[in-house]
Amino acid sequence: MTLLFLALHVLSATIWVGGMFFAHVALRPASLQLELEQRVDLWFATFSRFFPWVWAIVILLPVSGYGLLHSAFGNPHPMPTHIHIMQWLGWTMISLFVFLFATHFRKMTTMLKKRLIPEAALYLNRIRIIVSINLALGLLTILVASTGRYW
Ligand code: HEM
Repeated sequence: MTLLFLALHVLSATIWVGGMFFAHVALRPASLQLELEQRVDLWFATFSRFFPWVWAIVILLPVSGYGLLHSAFGNPHPMPTHIHIMQWLGWTMISLFVFLFATHFRKMTTMLKKRLIPEAALYLNRIRIIVSINLALGLLTILVASTGRYW
């Protein structure tokens, strides 16, 4: 089970953080060449394909993480510091994603259905800010996770 949990955990983290990195450093600057309406449509189509993966990941990451803690470490008390930090960074990232989906992405969807483009762009910008924060937290979490055993 340990290998399965570790594989699911590391692949989930890679897909989520890698996807945010690509969106932030490559797709966003490239999309600025488009007119506002095309840009908002492009981002809506992008999120509609990426967010179902993120929903699966926000379930898989904690399930595999606590599975690992149980199978590889035997639920230690106290928890190793790096796992403790990873856990709380992870729950912060998950909460931010659920928040952005339930508020800004839903509002962006509603505005786009009515073709209210500037309003939809406002929510797109809010999503961008939260994704930047989550990207920074995700990179930090990976550093903590992979260097923690050497502290
Ligand atoms: C949500 C709660 C989480 C729990 C309970 C958890 C738990 C764990 C545990 C027990 C390990 C094994 C640690 C070791 O072998 O020293 C691990 C490894 C790892 N975790 Fe997490 N984790 C969580 C969230 C996250 C998040 C959000 C990320 C990244 C976005 C992440 C990235 C990693 C990585 C990359 C490893 C592999 C480290 C390595 O073997 O070098 N984890 N996690």
